Amino acid sequence: MASISANSLHFLTALLYISIPVIFTATVVDDLNNLQPPPDFKSTITNNCRRNPSLRYCNSTPSDLHQIFKSTIVASHLCNISGNPNCVESFPKIDLHAQPKIAPLYLSFTFFWKYCPLTILSIDLSNNSLTGDFPTDVFYCSQIQALDLSHNDLSGDLPIQNFSLLENLTFLNLSYNDFTECRISDTHFFERFNSSSFIRSGLVPNHKEFRIKAVLLLVGLPVLVLVMVVFWGWLCFLQIRNERKFRPSMLKVATDGFSARNLMMKNGRASAYRGVLRDGSEVRVEIYLDAMSRENRRRFVEQCKILVQLQHKNIVPVLGWCGGRRLRAVVTEWIDGENIETLLSSCNPPWKQRVQVILGIAAGICYLHQEWPQVGYNLKTRNIMLSADGEPLITRFKLLDDHHSSTKKTYEFGMFMLEIVTNRRGSKELDQKSVDIVEWVKSNYPDNVENVIDKRMKKTVEIVSEAAEVLEFGLTCIDASNSHQPSWDRICDLLSDISSTAIPSASPDHWTSRVQRGGGRKHVHHRGVQ
Ligand SMILES: *[C@@H]1O[C@H](CO)[C@@H](O)[C@H](O)[C@H]1NC(C)=O
Ligand SMILES: *[C@@H]1O[C@H](CO)[C@@H](O)[C@H](O)[C@H]1NC(C)=O
Ligand SMILES: *[C@@H]1O[C@H](CO)[C@@H](O)[C@H](O)[C@H]1NC(C)=O
Ligand SMILES: *[C@@H]1O[C@H](CO)[C@@H](O)[C@H](O)[C@H]1NC(C)=O
Ligand SMILES: *[C@@H]1O[C@H](CO)[C@@H](O)[C@H](O)[C@H]1NC(C)=O
Ligand SMILES: *[C@@H]1O[C@H](CO)[C@@H](O)[C@H](O)[C@H]1NC(C)=O
Repeated sequence: MASISANSLHFLTALLYISIPVIFTATVVDDLNNLQPPPDFKSTITNNCRRNPSLRYCNSTPSDLHQIFKSTIVASHLCNISGNPNCVESFPKIDLHAQPKIAPLYLSFTFFWKYCPLTILSIDLSNNSLTGDFPTDVFYCSQIQALDLSHNDLSGDLPIQNFSLLENLTFLNLSYNDFTECRISDTHFFERFNSSSFIRSGLVPNHKEFRIKAVLLLVGLPVLVLVMVVFWGWLCFLQIRNERKFRPSMLKVATDGFSARNLMMKNGRASAYRGVLRDGSEVRVEIYLDAMSRENRRRFVEQCKILVQLQHKNIVPVLGWCGGRRLRAVVTEWIDGENIETLLSSCNPPWKQRVQVILGIAAGICYLHQEWPQVGYNLKTRNIMLSADGEPLITRFKLLDDHHSSTKKTYEFGMFMLEIVTNRRGSKELDQKSVDIVEWVKSNYPDNVENVIDKRMKKTVEIVSEAAEVLEFGLTCIDASNSHQPSWDRICDLLSDISSTAIPSASPDHWTSRVQRGGGRKHVHHRGVQ
C-alpha cells in the first residue's frame, strides 16, 4: 500500500493501512453493512491523530470507532465517484454534479459528514434534484472554500447563521432553488457573495424583481404617505367628534355652576340652562333629571350620537352631549329669538308668516321622518323657536321615548297647525280627555271657520279659505282613530311640492285636496273629519 509522508495530509490513512478492497462490487450500503473495522483500526486512528490532531475524529469517543470506520468507506467511494485523481493521496473535492441518483444517498450518511476529511475544499452538489431543506450536514466540512448547490429544488429557510462556520468559503452558488425568501438581517452574509450566487434562488431579488420592488417602493411610498395623512385626518375627525362629548365639569363652568340666573326652564323631567362655552359660543344645556339605568344611559348616548348628525335648517344644531352617571345633558346651539308661543300671543303674526312656520316645521319633521325616523321631537309651540332669519326651529328632542309613534307625531303636528291658526293652546296628549280645542274647531268647521281663526288676524276671504284648508288638514292629522290619517310619506311629498313652488309666499292652497288625490280620500273634502 501507499507510503505515508509525515508532512502530507492523508485523508484516507486509516483506510489505506487496513487494506480495504478499494474495488467495491456491491452498493455502498452493502459495504457498510458487511465490512467490519480490522483489529488494528483503533491504533491506526490513534497514530493518525498523533500526527495530525486536527483530524475530525480525534476528539471522538471509542464507541464511535465503527462510525469512523464506515465514514472512511464512504469517503473512499465518494472520492472516486467525484473523479479525484488520486484518492489514496488526497480528496480535494466532492463532485456529484448532475448525478441525481447518488447525491441524496451520500447526503444521508451523517456520520461521513461528521468526520468530513479535512482535504475537501470544494463541494459541488449542483443539478442533483435535491429536495427539501438545505443539507446542513455540509457545514461539518467547515474548511471548504467552494459550495455549489445550484439547480436543485431546495426549499425552506436558508440557515444563514451556519454559514459563519464556513469562514474560508469564497465561492457559493445557491442559484435556481426554491428557498423561502429571507428577511435578511445578516447583510454581511450577502456582502460575501454577489447576486450571481443567488439567481432565482428565492433568496435575493434578481435584477428584474429588484426593479419591480424599486418601482413598488416609488409608487408605494407616496401611497403610504397619503394613507397616513388620511389616517391622521381621520384621527383628527374622531377627536373633533369626541369633542362633542362634554364633561360635567365643562358644563358646570359653562353655566356658571348651573346658577339660577342661567336657568331657562325646569319641569319634572328636565331643566335647561343658558351657557357659554370656553370658545365663547352660547349654548343651551338641557339636563335630563330622570335617574337612568346603565342600559338607558347607553341608549341615551346612542341617541345623542344621532342628534349631533342632524343637519337641517329647521332643526337646532346639536353640539354634543354629556352621558355621565351623575349628569345627562344635550347641548344645542343657543337660539337668540322668540318662541312661537310668545310670537302668537304677543305679536299677532300675519297669515303669511304663520304659513311659513308651519311649512318650515313640516320640512324639519319630514327630514327626520325620512332620514332619522327614530328621533323623537317636541312640537310644543313654546319649544319651537324662531331664528334671527325667521326660520322656525325644532329645538327639543324626546330621548328614550319609545312611545313617540308615527301616529302620535302626526297628531302633534295637527295640534301644532290648529294652534298656529287659532292661537289657542291645546293638549298635546293624544289620549287625554281635555281636547276641547279640537272639539271647538270641529264644531265650527267648515261653516263658521271665522270663529276659530285668531281673532286679531285680518280676515280676508282668501285668508279664511286658506285657513280653512289648514284647519281641515290639521283635523285630519289629529283624528288618529281615522284610518285615513295621511301617512308621513304623503304629507312630506305634498309639503315638498308646496315648499318648492310656493315659498316664500307659501299658500296652503288645496293642501287637503292634494292629500286626497294622492290617498283617494273623498270625505275630507266634504268635511269628513268628524
Ligand atoms: C473509481 O471509479 C471508476 C469508475 O468511475 C472505477 O473504474 C474504478 O475502479 C474506481 N476505483 C476505485 C479505487 O474504486
Ligand atoms: C443537469 O443534469 C441533467 C442530467 O441529469 C443534464 O441533462 C443537464 O444538462 C444538467 N444541467 C446542468 C445545468 O448542469
Ligand atoms: C481557513 O483558512 C485558514 C488559513 O488557511 C486556516 O488557518 C483556517 O483553519 C481555515 N478555517 C477553517 C474553518 O478550516
Ligand atoms: C446551524 O445553526 C444552528 C443554529 O445556529 C445550530 O443549532 C446547528 O447546530 C448548526 N448546524 C451545524 C451543522 O453546525
Ligand atoms: C460575482 O463574483 C464573481 C466572482 O466571485 C465575478 O466573476 C462576477 O463577475 C460577479 N458578478 C457580479 C454581478 O458582480
Ligand atoms: C451559479 O449558477 C448559475 C447557473 O448555473 C450561473 O448562472 C451563475 O453565474 C453561478 N454563479 C456563480 C457565482 O458562479
